[in-house]
Amino acid sequence: MRRITIAAMGAVVALGLAACSGSGAGGGSGAGDGESVDPADLTVGVAMPTQTSERWIADGDAVKAGLEEAGYKVDLQFAGDDIPTQQQQIDQMITKGADLLILASIDGTALATQLQAAADANIPVIAYDRLIRDSENVDFYVTFDNYKVGVQQATSLLVGLGLLNADGSAGDATGPFNIELFAGSLDDNNAHFFFQGAMDTLKEYIDAGTLVVKSGQTDIEQAATLRWLQETAQKRMEDLLTSTYSDGSKVQGVLSPYDGLSRGILTALQNAGYGPAIADGMPIVTGQDAEIASVKLINDDVQFSTIFKDTRKLADQAVLSAQSFLAGEEPEANDTESYDNGVKVVPSFLLDSDIVYKDNIQSLLIDSGYWTEDQVASGQA
Ligand code: GAL
Repeated sequence: MRRITIAAMGAVVALGLAACSGSGAGGGSGAGDGESVDPADLTVGVAMPTQTSERWIADGDAVKAGLEEAGYKVDLQFAGDDIPTQQQQIDQMITKGADLLILASIDGTALATQLQAAADANIPVIAYDRLIRDSENVDFYVTFDNYKVGVQQATSLLVGLGLLNADGSAGDATGPFNIELFAGSLDDNNAHFFFQGAMDTLKEYIDAGTLVVKSGQTDIEQAATLRWLQETAQKRMEDLLTSTYSDGSKVQGVLSPYDGLSRGILTALQNAGYGPAIADGMPIVTGQDAEIASVKLINDDVQFSTIFKDTRKLADQAVLSAQSFLAGEEPEANDTESYDNGVKVVPSFLLDSDIVYKDNIQSLLIDSGYWTEDQVASGQA
């Protein structure tokens, strides 16, 4: 259905063009001047952070496919998680005359110069999934409800420990349980939303002594994982096991905000003799992104949960927003309060997310066509 909508909107833009006499393309020509241009004359620059995580590859491919289906040319770049590379890629997109930019930043505070150049050339900028901070020149933000993602991560930890039931009612377990907390990269605005949502949810249990963060590391600065790296999370989990759990005590739950980190954490736990499965004493480990390797681990009772953010919907939303700007209109926002980037509140479109447990892999991920049964069984995309 969505594909049809996008294709149809592309046709409307094209029809609008037929009614006008042609106007020149080039930097920002589609935005705000009330004139329509042929989508085929417009180029959208799409900057994605890295290809080491499958979600960003899927995001990049889906945004590109949606834009091309709507008739635009696309310049898609991945930056290998290197900030100067991403800055350079965006500079080049602007120099080559991009008409709009869709940017998923590596460091949300590092693109102000590029955004100023975009604004000077009248090029609208859409922040994709991650907010770009400290700049007036972010026109729109498409993302998920990131605070809610954090709430869902903490909720699934509570469900795994038996403190809550999946329907939200109180569970039978009483604790106390030892847990440890991981956060994402501090230069990614999302990491703060995830951690805040999670901590607000866990707070009453920590205050009551039902959950014990035995290492005492409860600040986001202590829990953070630069660049969201799996190896970094594995190393920190190893260090926590040595520093805090060599007295014979066990860790029973780990809040992890991303599947890549979860796999590093699980490796550290396995190497220290936990598991292999939850039934054998593997702690409850959460996640995010429904990466296929982690969905297999959930199916095999090793990882407990993940959060499914349907990147196909995010890509569609980015394309719809791009089409609005390029037709000289404002995209539709559903949130104009949550995302203050330090300079202004960026109008946003937030999408919903779901908690994945073993028993809803089928309905959420397979029935929706996100992964096939074979992929879940093999753990390979
Ligand atoms: C965040 C994103 C998460 C996860 C993480 C690591 O910005 O919202 O879904 O992908 O980066 O890549």
